[in-house]
Amino acid sequence: MSKSPAEAKSGKPANGEYVTLIDHSTEKQYDLLVRSGTEGPKVIDIQSLYKDTGYFTYDPGYTSTGSCESTITFIDGEIGILRHRGYSIEELAEHSDYMDVCYLLLYGELPNASQKSDFVHEITYHSMVHEQLLYFYRGFRRDAHPMAIMAGVVGALSAFYHESTDINDPEQRRMATHQLVAKMPTIAAMAYKYSLGQPFVYPRNDLSYAANFLHMAFSVPAEEYNVNPVLARAMDRIFILHADHEQNASTSTVRIAGSSGANPFACIAAGIASLWGPAHGGANEAVLTMLREIGSKDRIPEFIKRAKDKNDPYRLMGFGHRVYKNYDPRAAVLRESTHEVLAELGIKNEPLLDTAIELERIALQDDYFVEKKLFPNVDFYSGITLQAMGFPTSMFTVLFALARTVGWIAQWKEMIKEPNQRIGRPRQLYSGSQERTFVPLDKR
Ligand code: SDX
Repeated sequence: MSKSPAEAKSGKPANGEYVTLIDHSTEKQYDLLVRSGTEGPKVIDIQSLYKDTGYFTYDPGYTSTGSCESTITFIDGEIGILRHRGYSIEELAEHSDYMDVCYLLLYGELPNASQKSDFVHEITYHSMVHEQLLYFYRGFRRDAHPMAIMAGVVGALSAFYHESTDINDPEQRRMATHQLVAKMPTIAAMAYKYSLGQPFVYPRNDLSYAANFLHMAFSVPAEEYNVNPVLARAMDRIFILHADHEQNASTSTVRIAGSSGANPFACIAAGIASLWGPAHGGANEAVLTMLREIGSKDRIPEFIKRAKDKNDPYRLMGFGHRVYKNYDPRAAVLRESTHEVLAELGIKNEPLLDTAIELERIALQDDYFVEKKLFPNVDFYSGITLQAMGFPTSMFTVLFALARTVGWIAQWKEMIKEPNQRIGRPRQLYSGSQERTFVPLDKR
């Protein structure tokens, strides 16, 4: 399809690769510029397509559409690659901690010792929330889903931190970035404590990010609570694995919300709302519900049969991915973490894990799953690990949102700084009624 500019009819400057679109209804030809990144598929630049041709493109679900140019995360779904700023997720999960990955996503490089010390200090010393926020929680029913609380509280943060909402002020953007990364664990732990009817636990500045979260979630004023370092490391690794993932549904939501100039707290609240869906971040909670519903290994074939039935909307939660047509590299790392956590807690013969491992074994041999390249994704194992650590399923997506906040913010920052940043406003294929004359009520 691509033609050298010399052959192109439109006389475009001969300084790039083109594809030519031929409109057979008019025999007109249009040369569309092809752009290459540093990795991954090339793109056809269609920014002036409508102006030049009068056509829109049509791509519901954006299966073939790039919404932006980014330097943050690269995914190759065919071979199961995930890299942040060029570093593989396997190496980051093995050798770094979540604060390293936050700095990398936000500032483009792994921090050196002094950069890391300054960053960790900044995040640590912003981990408390405005005391007035505690009364905000009291407006929720105790049985409110923690994700409903997260969406409400994070959306309200601009009312408490109004001095970091001017998106055109780099210092306010920096402050909002650090406030969000720092306060999400506190807000998440408070949502959990509120659902238990237990008192809120303040953060401690002598604990690491993940250990502090476990402390705020599981300690009670009545006794000492010592964070298990193995669980803290597993928690930190789970945060790393969920930190960013290119232009997924919730990140795209944050970008499009930010494109209108909305403040960063409102944009992150929009991302939380999108992540909550069971097809996206809500899948980790749905995986546990599914495993409980399956109940025992001998019922697995019945559920696989339902997942394959075109007339049944049932899907195996934790399987399949829009981009990964190979094993999700995060699932492989998480599976390892799951075994470490269960061993540390002395949990043997965990029935849900046994069912999960058997389900994975059968599904990966089944023609339907093999043909459609439906592999376990990040959500398949995360729920089992989190449950073993003591979290209720209703908190699983909250932890995903906590970890993903840094990715949302990094992508939001990148979008805000784009030189030709414009409001996101897709078009449509209209197939509704054509013009009709109004019918008065007594004539209908
Ligand atoms: C996340 O985008 C991201 O990066 C997301 C994420 C991130 O880090 O941000 O990775 C996190 O959201 C992971 C995905 C978690 N969701 C689930 O585990 C829910 C179960 N999975 C499916 O709902 C589905 O696989 C999606 C939503 C993940 C992907 O949907 P797509 O890309 O729109 O794929 P599709 O629905 O078109 O499925 C392709 C085919 C279909 O069959 P045909 O119409 O071609 O005959 O595969 C089938 C689907 O019916 N299929 C499944 C299936 N997933 C897809 N069949 C049974 N069980 C499944 N899980």
